[in-house]
Amino acid sequence: MQAGQADERAGTGEALIIRGRLLWFDGDPEFEGEAARRFIEDGALLVREGRIAAVGDARDILSQAPRAPVADHRPHLVTPGFIDPHIHFPQTQVIASYGAQLLDWLNRYTFVEEQKFADPAHAARNATFFLDELIRNGTTTAVAYCSVHRASAEAFFAESEKRGARMIGGKVMMDRHCPEALRDTPESGYRDSKELIAQWHGRSRIGYAISPRFAITSSEAQLEVSRALVAEHPDCHMQTHMSENRREIETVLSMFPDAKDYLAIYESYGLVTEKSLIGHCIHMSGSEWARMAERRAVPVFCPTSNTFLGSGLFDWRAARDPKRPLRVALATDVGGGTSYSMLRTAGEAYKVLQLNGQSFSPDQAFHAMTRGNAVALGLDDKIGGFFVGAECDAVVLDARATPAMAHRMETVSSLDEELFVLSTLGDERSVVETYMMGKGVKSGSAS
Ligand code: GUN
Ligand code: ZN
Repeated sequence: MQAGQADERAGTGEALIIRGRLLWFDGDPEFEGEAARRFIEDGALLVREGRIAAVGDARDILSQAPRAPVADHRPHLVTPGFIDPHIHFPQTQVIASYGAQLLDWLNRYTFVEEQKFADPAHAARNATFFLDELIRNGTTTAVAYCSVHRASAEAFFAESEKRGARMIGGKVMMDRHCPEALRDTPESGYRDSKELIAQWHGRSRIGYAISPRFAITSSEAQLEVSRALVAEHPDCHMQTHMSENRREIETVLSMFPDAKDYLAIYESYGLVTEKSLIGHCIHMSGSEWARMAERRAVPVFCPTSNTFLGSGLFDWRAARDPKRPLRVALATDVGGGTSYSMLRTAGEAYKVLQLNGQSFSPDQAFHAMTRGNAVALGLDDKIGGFFVGAECDAVVLDARATPAMAHRMETVSSLDEELFVLSTLGDERSVVETYMMGKGVKSGSAS
């Protein structure tokens, strides 16, 4: 049976077998080496009710469910769906804006586009595009900043729910140093966030992220209500930005003259917890890293954004100090980032670390996009791996998707090399199929 025919059924209670070259991780290859990687050359997932019911050699799985339809993806790789833990939903028409670093880029491009999300119809149209684009790229979970407008978060959540996608998002809070039309107030930011949490958090596969944009655009009163939201909703994530750009840091420290460093501002408002996703963290002191580690907060490395905006080079080695390794997340940061593709993002991560004299192996890259990001989000009991009970989000990858890739693959003789070709040359053209809860959602048509 062709893949497109079979996958329609798994979300609806019937069983489905997804067959291919299975690759996933059940540990961290950076510290556990090859033992962390699981690879089955002719493997299969048995999917029931959208969840993985069995995983193993295709022969065994086929004998367990002889009547189940089979989506046969051989010779392609099948990995857990990609996870993008930092992306801006209202920046799909900001991506590829020329010639500015962070603060000018925000003022010149970003704050202009984000105002359009006051219109629910604009938000709805963009939500459809956004989810389509994630799926095209094999991304099955994302953590998204929405605009300041409540309706933008509603549009994002509604579209995510419609697709059955595991998505996290939040209405951004910003009450100063931005256009009037993009400002909320401490009171309205608190109220709207509360109402969105009540309406959406934990519904379907949706989670809420409390989202004070960063210290420049949130007043002390707004940081104070952010503290209240975090304290009142400890199961929600919190996302913000920090130490991305040198001018940003100077500005922040001049606005908070009593703070000993940038992290201390967020610490003083109770915003640094194990649910905190802190974007960028490029220009960090040893003390900031150590305090992030103590609190188990997550730095989010956004390589295509950091090179595009000229922000700087993330110090993976410092973040992953074996004495106290942080859970580093890897993300696109569209529209400061320049690609929706986690493959491209991993490829750029390799280049950033090269410029820092550091390494990023193919196993580290594929781990980061899947289990590593799931661990960073505290969702590794649900997604990011192939284990019994996991939600069956998966991506099917073709390392020969373009002529250049196929040509290069002629000389490839190991899985490591194949993975490196994928992360260096791959993008959405390599994504043959994306499964959400065992349902093929990229190919669209039953072929
Ligand atoms: N810092 C505050 N807002 C933003 C944003 O939208 N993108 C990036 N890259 N950094 C930010
Ligand atoms: Zn961002």
